[in-house]
Amino acid sequence: MEAKLDSDVIQVTADSVNIHHPDGTQTMLPHLWLRDNCPCDQCRVVETQEKRFILSTVDADIAPTEVSLDSHQLGIIWPDNHRTQFPLSIIDQLLIPEPKHSQPWPQNFIPHSFDWLLFLTDNQTTVAALTQFMQQGVIVLSGAPTQSESLELLAPVLGPIREVLFDRIHNVSVTGHVYNIAHTSLGLPPHNDFASYSFPPSVQALHMLQNEVPGGESIVVDGWAILEQLRLDHPEYFEILCQFPVPFREFDEDNETYAVEPMVRCDTDGNIQSLRFSNQLMQMMNPMQQGIKQFYRAYRELCVRIMHRQSDARATFRLQGGQLLLVAAHRVLHARESFQPVGARHLQDAYFELDNIANKLRQLQALERDAQNVR
Ligand SMILES: [Fe+2]
Ligand SMILES: [Zn+2]
Repeated sequence: MEAKLDSDVIQVTADSVNIHHPDGTQTMLPHLWLRDNCPCDQCRVVETQEKRFILSTVDADIAPTEVSLDSHQLGIIWPDNHRTQFPLSIIDQLLIPEPKHSQPWPQNFIPHSFDWLLFLTDNQTTVAALTQFMQQGVIVLSGAPTQSESLELLAPVLGPIREVLFDRIHNVSVTGHVYNIAHTSLGLPPHNDFASYSFPPSVQALHMLQNEVPGGESIVVDGWAILEQLRLDHPEYFEILCQFPVPFREFDEDNETYAVEPMVRCDTDGNIQSLRFSNQLMQMMNPMQQGIKQFYRAYRELCVRIMHRQSDARATFRLQGGQLLLVAAHRVLHARESFQPVGARHLQDAYFELDNIANKLRQLQALERDAQNVR
């Protein structure tokens, strides 16, 4: 949209200012929106660019007393004589939809591997790796140290560790604290961790310190790809999974974590935000509960697709000692094949938050842009 002098026409209705463009399109700006977003120095905190004006200070039916338009800005005078000058470029920016990070996996996908040291020290590698991570929800780091608690070293890039109960850094081996199927040599079906929290950790790092056993291949499953296909094939099942509350519990002698949530969460546009899936943590439900038969059919169908070994949404690979798997845990489920406990296999887990990773990527991209502008 570009307002051209004399060619755009403004119309003021009871609740909005409408700009009619020569190409027949229209931009509609509600009065309350215009007043709320006034960019003047009185209405913002100048030092921080935060909004200062509070909408409760005007009537619900506030309307401009005067409106003018030139090629660059919209001018408004309000009943109390407050003046708003609204640059049209700001409105143009808002009309562009936010780019979506996530992308589907290509055929025969195996997570990309990045060098641990470069990931931590070389901005270009960090940007490439985090971009990949935001797009596909999974990367591998190779050449990581094999010392215990090396996951602490990732904080400068991934942000602070998201602590949950049990441990700050969780040990997964058959010789340690056994409170979960992961601490046995059994195969682990695809799941995400801490479904028993209202907001489970959104990123999980699985760091292999030692892997000297036959079997135990790592598996990742793109939960969102499976859900999108399920939504196409059985929209009614998808809807049930978005609505039906399911209890999850993880506990030991000292802890009792419990949450009752639907397995699937979407944003208000219907974009999938998270899948919560853990066969091992899911609890028994009231068998007489309304809708439970339908829920179980929907859940079974989801389960069939998640467990399908030849699915395009699944990748299987071996995580060696000194390799680390990073997953966007609200999207990508992790699993492992059973193994023979005839040697050492020691994995450590820690959790992070996707918001902090998105922040890091934005910061590094801004640095790159600044560097390019200087050149
Ligand atoms: Fe897990
Ligand atoms: Zn103002």
